[in-house]
Amino acid sequence: MDLLKIRGGKVLQGHIKAAGAKNAMTKLLVASLLSDKKCTFYNVPNIGDVEITVNLCKEIGSEVKWDKKAKILEIVTPELKTSYIPQRYSGSNRIPILMIGALLGRTDEDIIVPTIGGDLIGVRPVDLHIHALQKLGARIEYREMKKEGAYFAQAHQGLKGAIISLNYPSVGATENTILAAVRAKGTTVIKNAAIEPEIIDLILFLQKLGANIMVDADRTICIQQATQFYEAEHTVLTDRNEVASYAMAAISTKGRIFIEGAEHLNMIAFLNKLREIGGGFQVRQNGIEFFYDGGLRGGLHLETDVHPGFMTDWQQPFVVLLTQASGVSVIHETVYENRFGYTHMLKEMGADIELFSQCLGGKSCRFASSSHHHSLVVKGPTPLKAKDISIPDLRAGFAYVMAALLAPETTTISNVDFLDRGYEELPEKFASLGADIIRASSSKKAKTALQSLLPKTPVDIAIPSA
Ligand code: UD1
Repeated sequence: MDLLKIRGGKVLQGHIKAAGAKNAMTKLLVASLLSDKKCTFYNVPNIGDVEITVNLCKEIGSEVKWDKKAKILEIVTPELKTSYIPQRYSGSNRIPILMIGALLGRTDEDIIVPTIGGDLIGVRPVDLHIHALQKLGARIEYREMKKEGAYFAQAHQGLKGAIISLNYPSVGATENTILAAVRAKGTTVIKNAAIEPEIIDLILFLQKLGANIMVDADRTICIQQATQFYEAEHTVLTDRNEVASYAMAAISTKGRIFIEGAEHLNMIAFLNKLREIGGGFQVRQNGIEFFYDGGLRGGLHLETDVHPGFMTDWQQPFVVLLTQASGVSVIHETVYENRFGYTHMLKEMGADIELFSQCLGGKSCRFASSSHHHSLVVKGPTPLKAKDISIPDLRAGFAYVMAALLAPETTTISNVDFLDRGYEELPEKFASLGADIIRASSSKKAKTALQSLLPKTPVDIAIPSA
């Protein structure tokens, strides 16, 4: 298993290019399965979650050509070889469950999606997915199997458009419903739908593929049955999570970086909060420049929310940034009930953070009466010290990398695979910004290959002007 070794204390400076969005690309691949037409994607991120999704598509019959250097991927699925998702993909990420929506209208066979844990209302449930698909006419059952359970789904009578009101604007449930609705007879209306930029990107792609989809006011999405499919080309939108992550990392080190390709439109809530604490940014013609603009101010109240609110995936690195701001700030996590686990390690590194199960800051959320710690108070500025860290999940992993970049000694981070799933060439990008970071692999060959990519001295790259 690979490790990252980071010696903090360096000021990040330079220029990086934003990658294509993980949360869009993985869904676009699944959406391509709706038809037998060739789809070509540009700006494809070379990350683990895309690799996993490509393999999953290949398992069920897709032919894929992926030029990783050129970031171009072609996929065509002339026919389905199987509609059984192998068990080893269960729990790999949230993608397998979307296969139900994409395949229901394409096969008469049962679609079988194994999943860890069969409880529909347990942790990260899929109840909203299942109810919406059932409303479209799918029959879905959860059955216990040898090692774990699986969803068995079919629509032998065909799918029929319906009005579906989601109890919560879940990203995945909205995507799954849209995918199924493209092949459902008549019109489907999703009320209280998620409208994240990655969903709009999916809709743009589906329109090219032959679907007729309207995004109406008040979180309403209308989908009409597609009667013909076409070959489609699509450039994947930029990863707003990657952009925000590197922006926060650079500002926390008192640095200045330009992120080529960063899109202003999808960053509004983030930029507002960044400005509130005194973080600097300038939107340029082909990207956004982020910089430390004097002392960072705490005293912030921040609530994560569905789009267009402040995204939950920005929360962890923002908390690290707030450890460097003077004053007391309050964060209320309203999207996931249990997303503060990573703060335990930050506290060991010196952060002053306290967790609360109440909704702090005024608004009451779905977790108000639960015992989950979903609010926190962070006081800064606090110096951070190195610790050996094991990464529990993707976004927490980035928060730990940020913390390590602030600690003057060497931090060793394990479970780097989590970062590989969502961040393209993370060590190389940080090294190009002047970070003292190295990836150590148990495989000597891999180590040498990567080390040859790292600059021997920090690279000094001019920030382009407008
Ligand atoms: C996606 C993103 C993830 C992001 C999240 C919220 C991908 C691969 N992942 O995850 O990075 O953090 O959106 O922006 O795109 N819920 C239910 N029942 C359901 C489905 C969801 O109760 O059937 C709940 C979840 O437990 C969670 C909330 O809804 O509390 C949000 O989940 P959802 O929007 O579905 O997130 P994902 O699509 O899993």
